[in-house]
Amino acid sequence: MNNFIFENATKTYFGKSCVKEYLASLVRPYGDNIMLAYGGGSIRKNGIYDEVIGILKSLGKNVIEFSGIMPNPTYAKVLEGAALAKESHADLILGVGGGSVMDCCKAISIAAVYDGDVWDDFWASAGVFDFEPLPLGVIVTAAGTGSEMNGGAVITNEELKIKTGRDYPKCNPKFALLDPAYTYSVPARQMVSGGFDTLSHIMEIYFSEPDEDNVSDDISEALMKNTIRNLRGAIKNPQDDTARSNLMWDAAMAENRIIKLGKKTDFECHQMEHQLGAYTNCNHGEGLSVLHPVYYRHIYRNGLTKFARFAVNVWNIPCEGKSEEELAAAGVEALEDFIREIGLPTTLRELGVTEDTDLKAIADSCSLAPGSYKKMSHEEIYEILKECF
Ligand code: NZQ
Ligand code: ZN
Repeated sequence: MNNFIFENATKTYFGKSCVKEYLASLVRPYGDNIMLAYGGGSIRKNGIYDEVIGILKSLGKNVIEFSGIMPNPTYAKVLEGAALAKESHADLILGVGGGSVMDCCKAISIAAVYDGDVWDDFWASAGVFDFEPLPLGVIVTAAGTGSEMNGGAVITNEELKIKTGRDYPKCNPKFALLDPAYTYSVPARQMVSGGFDTLSHIMEIYFSEPDEDNVSDDISEALMKNTIRNLRGAIKNPQDDTARSNLMWDAAMAENRIIKLGKKTDFECHQMEHQLGAYTNCNHGEGLSVLHPVYYRHIYRNGLTKFARFAVNVWNIPCEGKSEEELAAAGVEALEDFIREIGLPTTLRELGVTEDTDLKAIADSCSLAPGSYKKMSHEEIYEILKECF
């Protein structure tokens, strides 16, 4: 295993009615000004807004609302939120939503206290910053990204056509409230897309070195099986609390850094999806569902043993009579069959990509992940995108 240091600074509350039970005590210690940030308004329809605002008002807090955070949040929206946070002297940002709201809030928490150019100095460069972001708490309404338990904030800079993120420990939310019942109202298409995003995160970690016996790979197999089983369960019955609960915790487990420990990790598919998103604004999980099988057909021969193990341990494909290579290919096929079964797209056309979309520019702007079993080139990514079309 690779060396690691582990800390997760987010205090996480999971379960039915956790907002009602804990939000007041979590918010009380902060100052009076609470910036309540959310997306396009789903929380106003499903009752979550009323529940949260009722608790904040009962504490006598001054609530500053920041709404309209869009899927694939933009840098312009981050700057708008940061200006409001500064101007209203926000003491705490409370983000209520899915990955887009949480990511935008993390970015705001930095931009609101930083005087320099936060894109150039943070998203566009690695390295340490030595100031405290504004404190952030999150209430999760959609399972998928796992943003609730990490410091990652994926932001789209529309001017530069770059969608990128960093996982920075100081951006971990101070607290995260995860009530699976809050996810019941997520539209079926988004629920499936979020579930596939979770599966993608686990695969991006699993398909990387080291391949010798390690804790992460064993946990990852269990998480993948759980995600697949419960995604099927939630599709069958969207109010299935067991399925929703498992999916919510699978999402957090996939991205709370635990299974990354000791692993190189890949995330090339995510690099490709992010640039696809920067050019087309496609849905994150749907972009991944198109890319994964094609990308894996390009790389599985460089990681045969792990791909064969995936086929047997995750998809229960019998090994008798099959070579390692046949097994590995069967695992990728099983993944593709599952994508079709749950109704996700498998071609870029289904995402709305047309002949006019500049696939070459998308390929050329992708970062090349050092942890892939096969070192990618921009030319090969272009080939992958053309095959996905
Ligand atoms: O805008 P609202 O009203 O919130 O509606 C959202 C949005 O339309 C809706 N929704 C969420 N909860 C709902 C609900 N609708 C009804 N009832 C509810 N309870 O779902 C739609 C999609 O929401 P969004 O937050 O965009 O989805 P998701 O959670 O998939 O987040 C995607 C974003 O996260 C980034 C993605 O790139 C993308 O920008 N990611 C963040 C990561 C991280 N920070 O660790 C890792 C991921 O790999 C990913 O890149
Ligand atoms: Zn993702």
